[in-house]
Amino acid sequence: MNSIVRNIYMSDTSNEGAAVAAEHFTAAMAQAATGVSIVTTDGKGGRFGMTVSAIASVSAEPPLVLACLNRRSPMVEAVGENRIFCVNLLCTAHRTLSDKFSGRPHSGDPYGFDDELWGREVTGAPVLHGALAQFDCTLESAHDAGSHRIIIGRVHHAASTENAPLVYNAREYQQLTQLQDFDL
Ligand SMILES: Cc1cc2nc3c(=O)[nH]c(=O)nc-3n(C[C@H](O)[C@H](O)[C@H](O)COP(=O)(O)O)c2cc1C
Repeated sequence: MNSIVRNIYMSDTSNEGAAVAAEHFTAAMAQAATGVSIVTTDGKGGRFGMTVSAIASVSAEPPLVLACLNRRSPMVEAVGENRIFCVNLLCTAHRTLSDKFSGRPHSGDPYGFDDELWGREVTGAPVLHGALAQFDCTLESAHDAGSHRIIIGRVHHAASTENAPLVYNAREYQQLTQLQDFDL
């Protein structure tokens, strides 16, 4: 294992308000390997989808998930009004869709929903056909934290496939390979 420490960033903790600079925080956080989801909502507040890596399981009883959304996104207000959202975990086949819902489409409209790809389950939030996993939620609570809003949803429908997960690490899409015993 390569354990060479390449970058160390520290703030002056003698100043209570000091924190590590945003670019140092994001450079270190970019090393986290995460799944990639498209979080969607629909209703009076409008239909929106956004590519999000910051999702997590909160609780199994009751089933709760969270997602962290940048408050600059119009989707944040829409989720508050619609009171529903769906976390659609992506497969490797969905990398162009991930780009589309992060505002970087290879063709066509950014954030555009292609009706063939999307359906509905319980709440009415857009659910991606063939997603790695789907968590269709009603909004349980929301909490502002820094630049982002943490939305917590109660899951009313969950489903999954065994396709290959889309992974994001070091600002690139990746795929998983299983470690073999001889890698020990
Ligand atoms: C792989 C990936 C993961 C992302 N994860 C998040 C996230 O967890 N939360 C978030 O608010 N934005 C996240 N974004 C960024 C949003 O998708 C993007 O900022 C948003 O769609 C608005 O982009 P625009 O203002 O450039 O159009 C992610 C983008 C990518 C490509």
